[in-house]
Amino acid sequence: MSNQSPFSLLATPTTLPIATIALVIGVFILDTLIDVEVAASVLYLPVVLVAARVFKTRGIVLVAVGCAALALLSHVLSPGNPWSTTAILDRLLGLAALGFTTYLVAKNRSAEEALAERVQLLDLTHDTIFVRDAKDIITYWNRGAQELYGWTQVEALGKVTHNLLHTIFPEPLEQINANLLRTGRWDGELVHSKRDGTQVVVASRWSVQRDQQGRPIGTLETNNDITERKRAEEYLQRQATLLDQTHDAIIVWKFPGEIIYWNRGAERLYGYAAKEATGRSSHELLRTEHPMPAELFEATIERDETWLGELRQTTRDGRKVIVDSRHVLVRAPDGQRLIIETNRDVTERRHAEEALRRSEAHLAEAQALSKTGSFSWVPNAGPTEEQLYMSDEWFRIRGYDRRIPMTPEVMFERLHPDDRERVQEIFNRTLAEGRGFDIEFRLALPDGSVKYLHSVARALRDASRLEIIGAVMDVTATKRAMERLQHAQAELARITRLTTMGQLAASIAHEINQPLTGVVTNAHTALHWLDAEHLDLDKTRMAAERIVRDGQRASDVIGRIRGMMTKSTPQVAKVDINGVIDEVLALTETELRMHSVGVVTKLAPKLAPVSGDRVQLQQVILNLVLNAIDAMASVSDRPRVLRIGSQLRTGGEVLISVCDSGPGLDPETTEKIFSPFFTTKEKGIGMGLSICRSIVETHGGRLWTEPGTPHGAIFQFTMPPEASGRV
Ligand SMILES: Nc1ncnc2c1ncn2[C@@H]1O[C@H](COP(=O)(O)OP(=O)(O)O)[C@@H](O)[C@H]1O
Ligand SMILES: [Mg+2]
Repeated sequence: MSNQSPFSLLATPTTLPIATIALVIGVFILDTLIDVEVAASVLYLPVVLVAARVFKTRGIVLVAVGCAALALLSHVLSPGNPWSTTAILDRLLGLAALGFTTYLVAKNRSAEEALAERVQLLDLTHDTIFVRDAKDIITYWNRGAQELYGWTQVEALGKVTHNLLHTIFPEPLEQINANLLRTGRWDGELVHSKRDGTQVVVASRWSVQRDQQGRPIGTLETNNDITERKRAEEYLQRQATLLDQTHDAIIVWKFPGEIIYWNRGAERLYGYAAKEATGRSSHELLRTEHPMPAELFEATIERDETWLGELRQTTRDGRKVIVDSRHVLVRAPDGQRLIIETNRDVTERRHAEEALRRSEAHLAEAQALSKTGSFSWVPNAGPTEEQLYMSDEWFRIRGYDRRIPMTPEVMFERLHPDDRERVQEIFNRTLAEGRGFDIEFRLALPDGSVKYLHSVARALRDASRLEIIGAVMDVTATKRAMERLQHAQAELARITRLTTMGQLAASIAHEINQPLTGVVTNAHTALHWLDAEHLDLDKTRMAAERIVRDGQRASDVIGRIRGMMTKSTPQVAKVDINGVIDEVLALTETELRMHSVGVVTKLAPKLAPVSGDRVQLQQVILNLVLNAIDAMASVSDRPRVLRIGSQLRTGGEVLISVCDSGPGLDPETTEKIFSPFFTTKEKGIGMGLSICRSIVETHGGRLWTEPGTPHGAIFQFTMPPEASGRV
């Protein structure tokens, strides 16, 4: 760049100075040789003019002074009279012309120099500056342009800019030019290709240069490389777009102070548009309920630079949301502290968890209250915890610590030795057949106590596995209560039997009296035939045989009564129902006769035995028969008939019915007759039917009443087939 150095004397380094020196010598010789009166010093004018092309201002002045000195020297040396008026005037005129020309030339030159210096300044800037003429040919190219694009001034000058730089315009060039001519300026972003082929993005400013007439003569273009900035902006843009992609709400706020960023996730979650939210305080806007006091939070985030926790906030439409929040403190380059708050909506999850927790609590509570444990077991999956699940209550029922390792073996521990085999067999069957079960069994606990359990399970089967899900209920208390109840019932049944016997006392006495009378009569007869005078051994034997028969009859009656009186513990056995009916009829024979009741029996032949307690069943039938006799006491206008029968029903059930021809029951009374202590009789106790019903139901049967036709009442009860008896 030395050719533009403002500090060198020479404007151009080459031939012109030599030519100038030659010209000076030539003019000097000519001036010296020709007559002094010829104004030859004007010949120095071209020298000054040439010097103006070669030298800078100072050089021009020096040359001019040199020329003047030489002119004066020629004046003295040249032929003729140098001091003649004409010669002096000539010389002075020549010098004046020289001086004036020098002044003009030097002035012009210094203006040029000032301009050059200004141009020089343009080189100092980092901005890229170039000038192109009306045809877009580059006429000026500063150092910044060279540095940015890679072409030197020499290479660039004379080229058409847009060809050289492969400019990519943001809008059509014609449009830009039209705009430029109209307003005199344009600015925008251009993409240029550098000498090495890489692209730069520049912020470009154009301004039109015009001549004095205002015609455009060129354009000054100033470009700033904004590639980096552009890249950073794009990066930020991308980041922001990414932040918008996430479902999380991202909020950036000055700490402490207003919101400066609010992503789309935040718009979605809270309902406030970014425009509405920015500038507000996040805590106020969202009515954030913080788990800790503000000062403590500030201290925490100051110290740790992050804070994680759960917040409750309120959306624009007043909905409460729970968010999983993460606060990060960042320091911007300008020292400003910012909080980046990322919130994830966990409302649904929290509510679901809450509901689950509640229902689990309810379930546990219900299990504890009902003493019901639950279990699930995937038998073929192996003995890990997941395959074998037992609820807390299950462990409590079994008397285990919750933390014992669960294995299928544990399930069979503590079974009562008498039940173990049966339970294991049922389990094995369940596994083999994939069916559920419903069993009762006992546990023998280490402290010696026994628990009664009732377990129900279902097998769920899908293609790959079998899962057994079930519940086990501690029925010990129920069982014990049942036992006590049964005992009490049996006791009550015994007492009512005694009472009934009391009612029968007269007829029983009568019944026993008859054979006893027979015994006495026959004894007298026997004694008579033993007398010597009428000794007849055959007749004696016959009388003795009648004694034995009557004694047997009396003994039978007593035997039947004794059975009804003593026993209280129920004993389950096979019972022939028809036999029981016969017995009751035998016991009440006298009673029936005394009340003039005719009996019609209709018993099913070859009836299979039922399973139950003989005495209790006898008691039921006896009660029904006695009630029928009582009911018919008032009947005098028609025969008193007791129909008693048994019949086999479909399904193996046995139906026993007792019908009378009494007045029957009105519907109102029918409701009440089975309640304890309900009686319409003067000396009644009202326990008969209630005891009958509980006995029948304990045997798995049903007792009810129906109106008889045309009169009377029918009382009947069923007994299940023997196999299903539960007593
Ligand atoms: N065969 C029947 N006909 C009409 N009423 C009856 C009959 N059997 C029972 N009842 C009515 O049912 C009531 C209750 O009978 P029950 O429980 O045996 O007690 P009780 O015989 O001591 O009165 C009787 O008082 C009677 O009113
Ligand atoms: Mg009765």
